[in-house]
Amino acid sequence: MDLTTEYLGLKLKSPIVVSATPLSESIDNLRRMEAAGAAAVVLTSLFEEQIVLESGALDSDLSRGTESYFESLSYLPAFDDHYSSQDAYLRHLRNAKSSVGIPIIASLNGASPGGWTHFAELLEDAGADALELNTYSLATDPNRTSAEVEQGLVDLVGQVKRSVRIPVAVKLSPQFTSVPHLVRQLETVGADGLVLFNRFYQPDFDIENLDVIPRIAFSTPEELLLRLHWVAILYGNCHCDLAITGGVHSAEGVLKSIMAGAQIAMMTSALHLHGIEHLATVRADLVRWMEEHEYASIRQMRGSLSRRAVPDTSPFDRGNYIKTLSSYTLRKTAAHL
Ligand SMILES: Cc1cc2nc3c(=O)[nH]c(=O)nc-3n(C[C@H](O)[C@H](O)[C@H](O)COP(=O)(O)O)c2cc1C
Repeated sequence: MDLTTEYLGLKLKSPIVVSATPLSESIDNLRRMEAAGAAAVVLTSLFEEQIVLESGALDSDLSRGTESYFESLSYLPAFDDHYSSQDAYLRHLRNAKSSVGIPIIASLNGASPGGWTHFAELLEDAGADALELNTYSLATDPNRTSAEVEQGLVDLVGQVKRSVRIPVAVKLSPQFTSVPHLVRQLETVGADGLVLFNRFYQPDFDIENLDVIPRIAFSTPEELLLRLHWVAILYGNCHCDLAITGGVHSAEGVLKSIMAGAQIAMMTSALHLHGIEHLATVRADLVRWMEEHEYASIRQMRGSLSRRAVPDTSPFDRGNYIKTLSSYTLRKTAAHL
Protein backbone atom coordinates (compact mmCIF):
# COMPACT_ATOMS: atom_id res chain seq x y z
CA MET A 1 0.00 0.00 0.00
CA ASP A 2 1.58 3.27 -1.11
CA LEU A 3 0.35 6.10 1.10
CA THR A 4 3.07 8.52 0.05
CA THR A 5 2.30 11.94 -1.32
CA GLU A 6 4.23 15.07 -2.19
CA TYR A 7 3.42 18.45 -0.74
CA LEU A 8 5.48 21.63 -1.16
CA GLY A 9 8.30 19.54 -2.56
CA LEU A 10 8.36 17.43 0.59
CA LYS A 11 8.03 13.68 0.26
CA LEU A 12 5.47 12.68 2.89
CA LYS A 13 4.85 9.16 4.12
CA SER A 14 1.07 9.73 4.07
CA PRO A 15 -1.44 12.52 3.41
CA ILE A 16 -2.24 12.91 7.14
CA VAL A 17 -0.80 16.16 8.47
CA VAL A 18 -1.35 18.05 11.73
CA SER A 19 -2.43 21.66 11.11
CA ALA A 20 -1.50 24.54 13.39
CA THR A 21 -2.58 23.74 16.93
CA PRO A 22 -1.22 24.59 20.38
CA LEU A 23 -0.79 20.83 20.83
CA SER A 24 2.41 21.12 18.81
CA GLU A 25 3.90 23.59 21.28
CA SER A 26 5.14 20.61 23.29
CA ILE A 27 8.04 18.49 22.01
CA ASP A 28 6.55 15.46 23.73
CA ASN A 29 3.34 15.94 21.73
CA LEU A 30 5.33 16.29 18.50
CA ARG A 31 6.95 12.93 19.23
CA ARG A 32 3.52 11.40 19.88
CA MET A 33 2.23 12.86 16.60
CA GLU A 34 5.12 11.32 14.71
CA ALA A 35 4.67 7.97 16.44
CA ALA A 36 0.93 8.00 15.68
CA GLY A 37 1.65 8.49 11.98
CA ALA A 38 1.53 12.24 11.29
CA ALA A 39 3.39 12.83 8.04
CA ALA A 40 4.22 16.46 8.90
CA VAL A 41 3.26 19.09 11.45
CA VAL A 42 2.45 22.77 11.06
CA LEU A 43 3.46 24.74 14.14
CA THR A 44 1.11 27.36 15.61
CA SER A 45 1.46 30.79 14.10
CA LEU A 46 3.56 33.67 15.13
CA PHE A 47 1.46 36.79 14.56
CA GLU A 48 2.38 39.85 12.55
CA GLU A 49 1.36 42.07 15.46
CA GLN A 50 3.58 40.12 17.84
CA ILE A 51 6.58 40.51 15.56
CA VAL A 52 5.88 44.19 14.92
CA LEU A 53 5.54 44.96 18.63
CA GLU A 54 8.57 42.98 19.63
CA SER A 55 11.02 43.96 16.94
CA GLY A 56 10.24 47.66 17.05
CA ALA A 57 9.45 47.34 13.35
CA LEU A 58 6.55 49.69 13.99
CA ASP A 59 8.41 52.72 12.64
CA SER A 60 9.29 51.07 9.38
CA ASP A 61 5.68 49.97 9.08
CA LEU A 62 4.26 53.46 9.40
CA SER A 63 3.42 53.27 5.72
CA ARG A 64 0.53 51.11 6.81
CA GLY A 65 -0.87 54.37 8.07
CA THR A 66 -4.26 53.29 9.32
CA GLU A 67 -5.36 54.35 12.77
CA SER A 68 -7.10 51.05 13.24
CA TYR A 69 -3.89 49.08 12.90
CA PHE A 70 -2.28 50.89 15.79
CA GLU A 71 -5.50 50.81 17.75
CA SER A 72 -5.70 47.06 17.28
CA LEU A 73 -2.20 46.61 18.68
CA SER A 74 -3.34 48.04 22.00
CA TYR A 75 -6.15 45.47 22.22
CA LEU A 76 -3.89 42.48 21.69
CA PRO A 77 -3.83 39.84 24.38
CA ALA A 78 -0.62 39.22 26.24
CA PHE A 79 1.05 36.50 24.25
CA ASP A 80 2.17 34.79 27.47
CA ASP A 81 0.20 31.62 26.91
CA HIS A 82 1.33 31.50 23.28
CA TYR A 83 4.93 31.72 22.15
CA SER A 84 6.06 34.49 24.43
CA SER A 85 8.61 35.82 21.98
CA GLN A 86 10.11 35.40 18.55
CA ASP A 87 13.15 33.84 20.18
CA ALA A 88 10.97 31.27 21.92
CA TYR A 89 9.37 30.40 18.59
CA LEU A 90 12.73 29.95 16.89
CA ARG A 91 14.02 27.89 19.82
CA HIS A 92 10.98 25.64 19.67
CA LEU A 93 11.34 25.23 15.91
CA ARG A 94 15.01 24.21 16.24
CA ASN A 95 14.12 21.88 19.08
CA ALA A 96 11.28 20.35 17.05
CA LYS A 97 13.58 19.78 14.08
CA SER A 98 16.11 17.95 16.20
CA SER A 99 13.47 15.90 18.06
CA VAL A 100 11.40 14.42 15.23
CA GLY A 101 12.16 13.21 11.73
CA ILE A 102 8.98 14.40 10.01
CA PRO A 103 8.91 17.76 8.21
CA ILE A 104 8.07 20.80 10.34
CA ILE A 105 6.21 23.63 8.68
CA ALA A 106 6.47 26.99 10.45
CA SER A 107 3.51 29.35 10.38
CA LEU A 108 3.24 33.10 10.17
CA ASN A 109 -0.08 34.83 10.61
CA GLY A 110 -0.41 38.27 9.08
CA ALA A 111 -2.60 40.50 7.01
CA SER A 112 -0.45 43.16 5.40
CA PRO A 113 2.94 43.50 3.73
CA GLY A 114 5.58 45.15 5.92
CA GLY A 115 8.99 44.82 7.56
CA TRP A 116 7.69 41.99 9.77
CA THR A 117 7.81 39.53 6.87
CA HIS A 118 11.61 39.39 7.21
CA PHE A 119 10.95 37.06 10.11
CA ALA A 120 10.31 34.40 7.47
CA GLU A 121 14.07 34.34 6.81
CA LEU A 122 14.75 33.51 10.46
CA LEU A 123 12.27 30.64 10.28
CA GLU A 124 14.09 29.32 7.25
CA ASP A 125 17.46 29.67 8.98
CA ALA A 126 16.08 27.83 12.03
CA GLY A 127 15.34 24.84 9.83
CA ALA A 128 11.67 25.10 8.82
CA ASP A 129 11.02 22.72 5.93
CA ALA A 130 8.37 25.04 4.57
CA LEU A 131 6.33 28.02 5.61
CA GLU A 132 2.58 28.40 5.95
CA LEU A 133 1.34 31.96 5.71
CA ASN A 134 -1.99 32.37 7.44
CA THR A 135 -3.56 35.44 5.90
CA TYR A 136 -6.52 35.90 8.23
CA SER A 137 -7.97 39.37 7.88
CA LEU A 138 -11.37 40.97 7.78
CA ALA A 139 -12.36 43.69 5.36
CA THR A 140 -14.09 46.21 7.64
CA ASP A 141 -13.10 49.41 5.83
CA PRO A 142 -15.85 50.52 3.41
CA ASN A 143 -13.34 52.56 1.42
CA ARG A 144 -11.27 49.50 0.51
CA THR A 145 -12.40 47.64 -2.58
CA SER A 146 -12.27 43.87 -2.96
CA ALA A 147 -9.56 44.35 -5.58
CA GLU A 148 -7.46 46.32 -3.07
CA VAL A 149 -7.94 43.68 -0.38
CA GLU A 150 -6.82 40.96 -2.79
CA GLN A 151 -3.87 43.02 -4.03
CA GLY A 152 -2.74 43.49 -0.41
CA LEU A 153 -2.81 39.74 0.05
CA VAL A 154 -0.93 39.10 -3.19
CA ASP A 155 1.71 41.71 -2.24
CA LEU A 156 2.11 40.07 1.16
CA VAL A 157 2.67 36.64 -0.37
CA GLY A 158 5.08 38.09 -2.94
CA GLN A 159 7.07 39.79 -0.20
CA VAL A 160 7.37 36.60 1.85
CA LYS A 161 8.29 34.56 -1.23
CA ARG A 162 11.12 36.99 -2.01
CA SER A 163 12.52 36.58 1.53
CA VAL A 164 12.90 32.80 1.56
CA ARG A 165 13.95 29.83 -0.55
CA ILE A 166 11.77 27.26 1.24
CA PRO A 167 8.30 26.64 -0.22
CA VAL A 168 5.46 28.86 0.94
CA ALA A 169 1.83 27.75 1.30
CA VAL A 170 -0.95 30.30 1.75
CA LYS A 171 -3.78 29.58 4.17
CA LEU A 172 -6.77 31.34 2.70
CA SER A 173 -10.15 32.46 3.90
CA PRO A 174 -13.08 31.21 1.80
CA GLN A 175 -14.59 34.67 1.50
CA PHE A 176 -13.38 35.85 -1.87
CA THR A 177 -15.64 36.56 -4.81
CA SER A 178 -13.49 34.57 -7.22
CA VAL A 179 -11.29 32.04 -5.48
CA PRO A 180 -9.85 30.70 -8.81
CA HIS A 181 -8.81 34.19 -9.94
CA LEU A 182 -7.20 34.99 -6.61
CA VAL A 183 -5.34 31.67 -6.75
CA ARG A 184 -4.03 32.54 -10.21
CA GLN A 185 -2.70 35.85 -8.86
CA LEU A 186 -1.06 34.09 -5.91
CA GLU A 187 0.62 31.72 -8.32
CA THR A 188 2.10 34.60 -10.28
CA VAL A 189 3.93 35.79 -7.14
CA GLY A 190 5.18 32.27 -6.45
CA ALA A 191 2.81 30.64 -3.94
CA ASP A 192 3.73 26.94 -3.82
CA GLY A 193 0.67 25.67 -2.00
CA LEU A 194 -2.82 26.60 -0.86
CA VAL A 195 -4.37 25.60 2.43
CA LEU A 196 -8.15 25.73 2.20
CA PHE A 197 -9.65 27.18 4.34
CA ASN A 198 -9.16 29.24 7.43
CA ARG A 199 -12.14 29.05 9.74
CA PHE A 200 -14.02 32.29 10.35
CA TYR A 201 -14.16 32.70 14.12
CA GLN A 202 -17.22 34.70 15.00
CA PRO A 203 -17.63 36.21 18.45
CA ASP A 204 -20.87 35.62 20.33
CA PHE A 205 -23.06 38.35 21.88
CA ASP A 206 -23.71 38.45 25.62
CA ILE A 207 -27.07 40.27 25.64
CA GLU A 208 -27.22 40.56 29.45
CA ASN A 209 -23.88 42.27 29.86
CA LEU A 210 -23.84 43.93 26.43
CA ASP A 211 -20.56 42.33 25.60
CA VAL A 212 -19.05 40.74 22.51
CA ILE A 213 -17.21 37.58 23.46
CA PRO A 214 -14.54 35.84 21.41
CA ARG A 215 -15.02 32.08 21.33
CA ILE A 216 -13.48 29.11 19.65
CA ALA A 217 -15.43 25.98 18.86
CA PHE A 218 -13.98 22.86 17.34
CA SER A 219 -15.03 22.01 13.80
CA THR A 220 -17.53 19.37 12.73
CA PRO A 221 -17.14 17.08 9.67
CA GLU A 222 -19.88 19.15 7.99
CA GLU A 223 -17.32 21.95 7.46
CA LEU A 224 -15.34 19.71 5.15
CA LEU A 225 -17.87 20.12 2.33
CA LEU A 226 -16.94 23.74 1.59
CA ARG A 227 -13.28 22.72 1.30
CA LEU A 228 -14.03 19.72 -0.89
CA HIS A 229 -16.06 21.90 -3.22
CA TRP A 230 -13.30 24.44 -3.84
CA VAL A 231 -10.45 21.95 -4.02
CA ALA A 232 -12.47 19.93 -6.54
CA ILE A 233 -12.85 23.09 -8.63
CA LEU A 234 -9.20 24.12 -8.35
CA TYR A 235 -7.74 20.67 -9.04
CA GLY A 236 -6.18 20.66 -12.50
CA ASN A 237 -6.72 24.41 -12.83
CA CYS A 238 -3.82 25.59 -10.74
CA HIS A 239 -0.17 24.66 -10.30
CA CYS A 240 -0.15 25.04 -6.52
CA ASP A 241 -0.26 22.06 -4.21
CA LEU A 242 -3.57 21.78 -2.38
CA ALA A 243 -4.15 21.08 1.29
CA ILE A 244 -7.47 20.80 3.10
CA THR A 245 -7.94 22.06 6.63
CA GLY A 246 -11.33 22.22 8.32
CA GLY A 247 -13.64 19.33 9.11
CA VAL A 248 -11.28 16.39 8.55
CA HIS A 249 -12.06 14.11 11.49
CA SER A 250 -11.69 10.59 10.08
CA ALA A 251 -10.23 8.40 7.32
CA GLU A 252 -13.35 9.14 5.31
CA GLY A 253 -12.49 12.85 5.50
CA VAL A 254 -8.95 12.13 4.32
CA LEU A 255 -10.22 9.99 1.42
CA LYS A 256 -12.70 12.66 0.35
CA SER A 257 -9.97 15.32 0.48
CA ILE A 258 -7.68 13.26 -1.76
CA MET A 259 -10.48 12.42 -4.17
CA ALA A 260 -11.33 16.14 -4.42
CA GLY A 261 -7.71 16.73 -5.44
CA ALA A 262 -5.80 17.63 -2.28
CA GLN A 263 -2.26 16.37 -1.70
CA ILE A 264 -2.82 16.31 2.04
CA ALA A 265 -5.59 16.47 4.63
CA MET A 266 -4.92 18.29 7.87
CA MET A 267 -6.37 17.77 11.32
CA THR A 268 -6.63 19.83 14.50
CA SER A 269 -10.10 19.63 16.07
CA ALA A 270 -10.21 15.84 15.84
CA LEU A 271 -6.97 15.64 17.83
CA HIS A 272 -8.30 17.98 20.51
CA LEU A 273 -11.49 15.91 20.72
CA HIS A 274 -10.08 12.36 20.52
CA GLY A 275 -6.41 12.77 21.44
CA ILE A 276 -3.20 12.74 19.43
CA GLU A 277 -3.30 8.95 19.01
CA HIS A 278 -6.45 9.39 16.89
CA LEU A 279 -3.96 9.91 14.04
CA ALA A 280 -3.10 6.20 14.21
CA THR A 281 -6.78 5.21 14.02
CA VAL A 282 -7.29 7.42 10.97
CA ARG A 283 -4.24 5.93 9.28
CA ALA A 284 -5.32 2.35 10.02
CA ASP A 285 -8.86 3.04 8.77
CA LEU A 286 -7.43 4.64 5.64
CA VAL A 287 -5.32 1.56 4.86
CA ARG A 288 -8.24 -0.78 5.56
CA TRP A 289 -10.59 1.16 3.28
CA MET A 290 -8.01 1.27 0.48
CA GLU A 291 -7.40 -2.48 0.76
CA GLU A 292 -11.10 -3.24 0.71
CA HIS A 293 -11.58 -1.06 -2.36
CA GLU A 294 -8.42 -2.31 -4.07
CA TYR A 295 -6.55 0.96 -4.25
CA ALA A 296 -2.79 0.53 -4.38
CA SER A 297 -1.80 4.16 -3.82
CA ILE A 298 -3.00 7.59 -2.80
CA ARG A 299 -1.85 8.91 -6.17
CA GLN A 300 -4.31 6.61 -7.90
CA MET A 301 -7.34 8.19 -6.27
CA ARG A 302 -6.23 11.81 -6.25
CA GLY A 303 -8.68 14.10 -8.02
CA SER A 304 -11.03 11.24 -8.94
CA LEU A 305 -14.00 13.27 -7.71
CA SER A 306 -12.70 16.64 -8.89
CA ARG A 307 -14.72 18.83 -11.22
CA ARG A 308 -12.44 17.72 -14.05
CA ALA A 309 -12.98 14.03 -13.45
CA VAL A 310 -16.73 13.71 -13.01
CA PRO A 311 -18.95 13.43 -16.10
CA ASP A 312 -21.61 15.76 -14.65
CA THR A 313 -20.05 18.97 -13.32
CA SER A 314 -23.36 20.51 -12.26
CA PRO A 315 -22.97 19.54 -8.57
CA PHE A 316 -20.03 21.95 -8.46
CA ASP A 317 -21.72 24.75 -10.33
CA ARG A 318 -24.95 26.72 -10.31
CA GLY A 319 -26.76 23.53 -11.29
CA ASN A 320 -26.24 22.23 -7.77
CA TYR A 321 -28.00 25.24 -6.33
CA ILE A 322 -31.00 24.77 -8.56
CA LYS A 323 -31.15 20.99 -8.03
CA THR A 324 -30.76 21.24 -4.26
CA LEU A 325 -33.45 23.84 -3.80
CA SER A 326 -35.95 22.29 -6.17
CA SER A 327 -35.51 18.75 -4.79
CA TYR A 328 -36.17 20.05 -1.28
CA THR A 329 -39.38 21.75 -2.37
CA LEU A 330 -40.64 18.53 -3.99
CA ARG A 331 -39.88 16.45 -0.91
CA LYS A 332 -41.50 18.93 1.43
CA THR A 333 -44.60 19.15 -0.71
CA ALA A 334 -44.94 15.35 -0.89
CA ALA A 335 -44.52 14.96 2.88
CA HIS A 336 -47.15 17.51 3.78
CA LEU A 337 -49.91 16.65 1.30
C1 LIG B 1 -6.98 26.03 19.60
C2 LIG B 1 -6.67 26.28 18.15
C3 LIG B 1 -5.56 27.06 17.82
C4 LIG B 1 -5.25 27.31 16.48
N1 LIG B 1 -4.16 28.07 16.16
C5 LIG B 1 -3.86 28.32 14.86
C6 LIG B 1 -2.72 29.08 14.50
O1 LIG B 1 -1.95 29.54 15.33
N2 LIG B 1 -2.49 29.29 13.17
C7 LIG B 1 -3.31 28.79 12.20
O2 LIG B 1 -3.04 28.99 11.01
N3 LIG B 1 -4.40 28.05 12.52
C8 LIG B 1 -4.69 27.81 13.80
N4 LIG B 1 -5.79 27.06 14.12
C9 LIG B 1 -6.64 26.54 13.03
C10 LIG B 1 -6.30 25.09 12.71
O3 LIG B 1 -4.97 24.97 12.26
C11 LIG B 1 -7.23 24.54 11.61
O4 LIG B 1 -6.98 25.19 10.38
C12 LIG B 1 -8.70 24.67 11.96
O5 LIG B 1 -8.95 24.30 13.29
C13 LIG B 1 -9.56 23.82 11.02
O6 LIG B 1 -9.17 22.47 11.05
P1 LIG B 1 -9.92 21.34 11.94
O7 LIG B 1 -11.31 21.24 11.46
O8 LIG B 1 -9.12 20.11 11.70
O9 LIG B 1 -9.87 21.82 13.36
C14 LIG B 1 -6.09 26.78 15.46
C15 LIG B 1 -7.19 25.99 15.80
C16 LIG B 1 -7.48 25.72 17.13
C17 LIG B 1 -8.66 24.85 17.45
